[in-house]
Amino acid sequence: MSTDLHVAGESPATVEADAVVLGLLPGAGDDPARLAPGGEELDAAFDGELAALLRVAGATGKADQVLKLPTRGAVTAPLLVAVGLGKPGPDGSPSAEQVRRASGAAARALAGTARAASTLGRLDLAAAAEGTLLGAYAFTAYRTNGNGKPPVGSVTLLTQESDAAGTVHTATAVAEAVCAARDLVNTPPNDLFPASFADRAVALAEGTGIEVEVLDDAALAEGGYGGVLGVGQGSSRKPRLVRLRWSGGSNPRATVALVGKGITFDTGGISIKPAANMDHMTSDMSGAAAVIATTVLAARLELPVTVTATVPMAENMPSDTAYRPGDVLRMYGGRTVEVLNTDAEGRLILADAIVRAGEDEPDYLIETSTLTGAQMVALGLRTAGIMGSDEFRDRVAAHARTCGEDGWAMPLPEHVRADLDSRVADLANVTGARWGGMLVAGVFLREFVREGLPWAHIDIAGPAFNPGSPHGYTGKGGTGVPVRTLWSVLQDVAANG
Ligand code: BES
Ligand code: MN
Ligand code: ZN
Repeated sequence: MSTDLHVAGESPATVEADAVVLGLLPGAGDDPARLAPGGEELDAAFDGELAALLRVAGATGKADQVLKLPTRGAVTAPLLVAVGLGKPGPDGSPSAEQVRRASGAAARALAGTARAASTLGRLDLAAAAEGTLLGAYAFTAYRTNGNGKPPVGSVTLLTQESDAAGTVHTATAVAEAVCAARDLVNTPPNDLFPASFADRAVALAEGTGIEVEVLDDAALAEGGYGGVLGVGQGSSRKPRLVRLRWSGGSNPRATVALVGKGITFDTGGISIKPAANMDHMTSDMSGAAAVIATTVLAARLELPVTVTATVPMAENMPSDTAYRPGDVLRMYGGRTVEVLNTDAEGRLILADAIVRAGEDEPDYLIETSTLTGAQMVALGLRTAGIMGSDEFRDRVAAHARTCGEDGWAMPLPEHVRADLDSRVADLANVTGARWGGMLVAGVFLREFVREGLPWAHIDIAGPAFNPGSPHGYTGKGGTGVPVRTLWSVLQDVAANG
């Protein structure tokens, strides 16, 4: 990561930096904005006039507002960067996510600055560290013209915390995992295809103690992975199944199986998609990227949980070798599926992976995928749809919200299963109607989950990729969702089983 983080206990008024960041909160009545805690020495250096000065400049304290104020020698740093935190919760103080987002917005505004310091570390050090690194992220691997400012060089987080170095070490590892997932998602589909994606997974796992297994198309045929092979057969770039395993060290508390959708590009296949926005389907491997990055994170931080990642990778293309509507696939484990729409390909590769992951008899299974456009219709671009067994689904959804990524529990109604009955096979991959498409996909996946295994399915069709403007710590393109949700669940399992 190109931005260096440091911690220091000194005053923001005297810290050596090119810019110093402080938080703003919405005010009340005649006071549109006030200083957040942590900026006291700065205010004193401005004779208690800082909030008033910022109000002249239009400060509102609203989330994502960034104002720059030259300090004219009042404090050591020549520039003050004031960032809105948004309305605090009922307890009066901004949440971790508010600090994360404000730190991200500040980091984006600091692009081109060599050295910055931030008082947001005083509000929540881990959140400030994560938000700063995520907001500073830039994907520049394909730029040759050097346009755009470089990310902020270093940020000193001001804090009084006793184990500041430890907190920042962990937060940095988490942010690096999110950025690793973003890098994979942002890599264009001509360079990221099943074989090269598998190579990237192997490279990320190297030196972490993770065991790696890569099944190529011959091994997939040998093993009977009809879902992955069927979806992948239309592309000259053959499918893969990657398996990673972090042991959990000497005394693991439990075993969690992760499964992620790795469609490196989704044209829809013979049931081809419209041209508009088809380029977004470069992100159809976001679930796979998140699962790989999270497993590597668990190993790097030596989490006492056994984590397996089972990651099917395929490119969904139309061609003379492509699978077609009407084909019947024999899935891993022997069940048969009639393909009625080749664009409902994610559930087919995931079925194989879910069955394979279940064979290890894990304590929990979490699968994540950019699975349905219906997720975006139901919940929008930022809230993941979370389905599965009732109790575990709710536990995962609670983590999605507390970690700041956001998610909402959705049902898997029993009656939907009958809509997937097939004329010729055990089940069909789609129903005849479009209603409840997110739930239909979840009900399809449930058919392949080992009996009695607590599981969750996180549909991230919207949240995985930001086609719009940057906000908070989220830039354009791959977001790295749901790495932090997965990580939060794994930490919970490490502590509580
Ligand atoms: N990868 C898509 C889902 C998707 C759409 C993700 C838009 C992100 C943005 C998935 O493979 C797909 O095509 N799903 C179909 C299912 C349908 C054919 C039942 C869909 O949602 O239209
Ligand atoms: Mn599709
Ligand atoms: Zn897809």
